[in-house]
Amino acid sequence: MKKRILAFILATLMSFTLVSFANPKEKENPQPSPRPIIIQGAMDVETENLVAQLQNVEKITYGGWLFFKGTVDNYPVVVTKTEIGMTNAAASTLLAIEKFNPLAIINQGTSGGHDPALHRYDIVIGKKSVNFGSFRSEHSDYNKGIHAENWIPMDINVSVNGEIKELKDFEGNTTLIETAKSVMNTYKKGKVVEGVIGSADQWNRELDRIKWIHEKYATSVEEMETASAAQIAKTYKVPFLGIRILSNSEIHDEGYDRNSGEYCQDFVLKVTKKLIQQARQNKDFLQYKDESTNNTTIQ
Ligand code: 5AD
Repeated sequence: MKKRILAFILATLMSFTLVSFANPKEKENPQPSPRPIIIQGAMDVETENLVAQLQNVEKITYGGWLFFKGTVDNYPVVVTKTEIGMTNAAASTLLAIEKFNPLAIINQGTSGGHDPALHRYDIVIGKKSVNFGSFRSEHSDYNKGIHAENWIPMDINVSVNGEIKELKDFEGNTTLIETAKSVMNTYKKGKVVEGVIGSADQWNRELDRIKWIHEKYATSVEEMETASAAQIAKTYKVPFLGIRILSNSEIHDEGYDRNSGEYCQDFVLKVTKKLIQQARQNKDFLQYKDESTNNTTIQ
């Protein structure tokens, strides 16, 4: 009996020793798990295909916002349902950054055409996004009417490094833009262009208004989330890109087609897989860069 106990103690000791010598490097420097890529969409038609592509999915709710945490090609990816509109997009982005510490954020989904050169199913890679719902007006008296075409665009105040800056728009991260462009030839439902994504809590169908916004802000498309998510990403210095498909174009009388949400997700999944490849080759390939040239710092 005594022998057996001794043998057991010896075996236990040896196995501890073996484990501690098995992988000394890993013990000193445990591999941190990579920072996830966040892919945002406002509605089911913009998220459900991506969620279906995730492995090991965990559905997490913070407040009213849903986060689907999983993997693509064994790399962490979180698909987030922001819900519709600027406030929802901001809140969901803030939660995503605080809870998941992402490497990058892609905001994607449907939109309406502002550029006459673009048609339904074309995709816009967001060189910039702009909040076109921020205005002031000059005083005018009662019974003088409402003249939206005279309203004056107002910059957005953003705190970067504790400094308040007034920004006209939010630039897409150039590395992410290059990654998206590198797979653009795989998209067969329309063209893929670089452009400006306009965001506001508005759905515009008046052609004169669409033309005015397009001329004032050089918008390629309008939708309701990207510039808001970009603003929060900027505050945290998280590399950000908007990718939007035209699901409708009032200009060409091309009505909303929900399938466009699926086409956009397919394209975004290709961009994501490419990003994952790049992240594996060089974990420092993606850096936050302030590309904006239009900042005014408020003292
Ligand atoms: N105008 C505004 N938002 C649009 N969306 C799609 N097309 C348009 C459009 N023409 C998107 C918004 C929002 C939802 C209503 O659809 O981003 O999430």
